[in-house]
Amino acid sequence: MIFEDSKCPADKKIANFAKYARRQNLVRFMVQHEIFKKQLSVKGSVVECGVHHGGGLMAWAKLSATLEPYNYRRTIVGFDTFEGFPSVAEIDKKGGNPIAKEGAFGENYNTFDELQACIKEFDENRYLNHIAKVELVRGDACQTIPNYLEVNPHFLVSLLYLDFDIYPPTVVALEHLVSRIPKGGIIAFDEVHNKDWPGETQAMLEKFNLNNHRLEAFPFEPNISFIQL
Ligand SMILES: C[S@@+](CC[C@H](N)C(=O)[O-])C[C@H]1O[C@@H](n2cnc3c(N)ncnc32)[C@H](O)[C@@H]1O
Repeated sequence: MIFEDSKCPADKKIANFAKYARRQNLVRFMVQHEIFKKQLSVKGSVVECGVHHGGGLMAWAKLSATLEPYNYRRTIVGFDTFEGFPSVAEIDKKGGNPIAKEGAFGENYNTFDELQACIKEFDENRYLNHIAKVELVRGDACQTIPNYLEVNPHFLVSLLYLDFDIYPPTVVALEHLVSRIPKGGIIAFDEVHNKDWPGETQAMLEKFNLNNHRLEAFPFEPNISFIQL
């Protein structure tokens, strides 16, 4: 891989990210930008359901810091075990996906600690950085989402990004967070209409009558879709 083999210094690699990143990675960020702009005038925070390495979470954080530097009320909250799937439901196995099982997306480095370090670095380079922007909530989201709302009864959501991939936490996120999204806010799905991850579609169908909602997508990206309330 050129990225690994290149003698180009790391800071220059990052500055020239378009040179090394796959087109698909750039497209994903383009979609995040489009979605973020759609909810810019809506009150509430961004919730990233499924953080993994944290690319999505930090994309929202950097878009917020760039496009609305004074909106210190918009936080970016990421829910994850940071140890991979705690469990999966029967519906999640129906696509025959070999990675739809407990422990999938667990990594051999401490994603939580590294992300906290990245957040610290990000904080050093933004306005109003005495007020926290990004929050990581560790644990099984089936418990941590309702707990979070107990502790934060004021919490509203402008963008709910669903990327747990699987049924149980997606149901819980939809159940607890959709009623906190004002009209104009967004519920985005990373894996609906995806044969490998039937659980996310199932959870969506239980919450929304699709005859009454446009499930929109971008012609230049095949996975992400969204409902704008
Ligand atoms: C596809 S990854 C998320 C990718 C991330 N959104 C991104 O843009 O890079 C799915 C994540 O969901 C997390 N996850 C799945 N079920 C969960 C649960 N019940 N509670 C917390 N996290 C869960 C996994 O640990 C995994 O990191």
